[in-house]
Amino acid sequence: MPHIVFSNNGELKAPSNKDGVDFKFIAKSYNISETPKKTEYKIGVSNQKRDFLLTLKDNKENKIIKADKVTRVTPVTIVKDALNTYVKHTDANVIFSNTNNFSQKQEPPKEYLKDIEYFVNEFQTNNEIQIEIGFGSGRHLLYQAHNNPDIQFIGIEIHTPSIEQVLKQIKILNIRNIIIVNYDARLFMEFIKSNSVGKIFVHFPVPWDKKPHRRVYSNDFIYEAKRVLKFTGTLELRTDSRKYFDFCVGLLTNLSSGKIEIDINKDLPISSKYEDRWKKQNKNIYDVTLHSFTIDKEIEPNKDFSFDKISNLIKIFENLPQKSILFDDFFYHIEDFYLIENEKDSGLIQVTFGSFNRPLSKYLIIRNGIISYYQGEPIPTSSNIKAHNKMKEILNNDYC
Ligand SMILES: C[S@@+](CC[C@H](N)C(=O)[O-])C[C@H]1O[C@@H](n2cnc3c(N)ncnc32)[C@H](O)[C@@H]1O
Repeated sequence: MPHIVFSNNGELKAPSNKDGVDFKFIAKSYNISETPKKTEYKIGVSNQKRDFLLTLKDNKENKIIKADKVTRVTPVTIVKDALNTYVKHTDANVIFSNTNNFSQKQEPPKEYLKDIEYFVNEFQTNNEIQIEIGFGSGRHLLYQAHNNPDIQFIGIEIHTPSIEQVLKQIKILNIRNIIIVNYDARLFMEFIKSNSVGKIFVHFPVPWDKKPHRRVYSNDFIYEAKRVLKFTGTLELRTDSRKYFDFCVGLLTNLSSGKIEIDINKDLPISSKYEDRWKKQNKNIYDVTLHSFTIDKEIEPNKDFSFDKISNLIKIFENLPQKSILFDDFFYHIEDFYLIENEKDSGLIQVTFGSFNRPLSKYLIIRNGIISYYQGEPIPTSSNIKAHNKMKEILNNDYC
């Protein structure tokens, strides 16, 4: 993490500009807990059209300025330049700096790797979609895509080395009908249109026998999978774990409609890396396939991340809960507060919220009583929206 240790600097004026870096505001930590924390500042900067925060800590004998973890931007050179400009702008006496150890690595664009925003805002296809969850080495996904050129495949994986490996194979094999996304499959389906998917493959998922709540299959996952499946679409589990198989059969037989097909040691035209491993050990391989025969309504995700205007920010700070607030499928936690200097009702609130599977950390920025998400709104997952609505309630003046 780039940082600079220094002493004896002049006062930073905000707003101000130096060498193309905008120093927009200074926010000072606001202490409401009984055990006082050290004073810390967040400096709002903008460099190369990217907004982010710098953290300034005053340790009496010296000061340290570094990037704020939550608002980190890439490439790191954007942050490094802002840190170097800060010490220059305030005539600081630099004691230590590691900012020259960071260089800009130019990553070639990855045509078939998309982020979740792409699925929220842009993704469209007239072709049938098929999804593979946790594709690992990608043998099955690549085989299917190669043999079904008219189908749009989406591969979901959370393991970056597997993603890199499969992206290389996609290029070598000149495959054009796969999109890869690095995202938790349990939350992904929300962004796919109802009745648009022909098949969902879940082959050899991590069994999580000791922590079943971490499994991909759950009532919520099956509900979403069924919604996105076309009439006659299938959700296919293939596993060597008898416990996972029984668990899924249990969930699927609770559904009010659909057909379930069970196979043992069924041969597929392609064997995945994990499948080869289990076959060598003479383990049984279980398949349970759900055939869906419903036509589901389209969902219109609520994307309203607005807040009401507030007054008396300090009173609000003092009334905010200081421990995690947990609900069945989401939570929020107010982490820290900062007051923006020389501005009325202006500050930052650091929050962590959303799904337990993929919590999100962000800052709310308040300028003259108007609250918004710093660096833009969150991804509109149902858990983020639910957490937002709860935070909106407690940030309302009437609540205090
Ligand atoms: C046991 S491997 C199986 C890989 C491949 N399907 C095969 O048969 O060789 C399970 C894969 O699922 C991925 N995975 C686990 N949880 C996931 C999740 N929630 N969303 C997406 N992928 C996940 C893991 O990173 C891993 O690559």
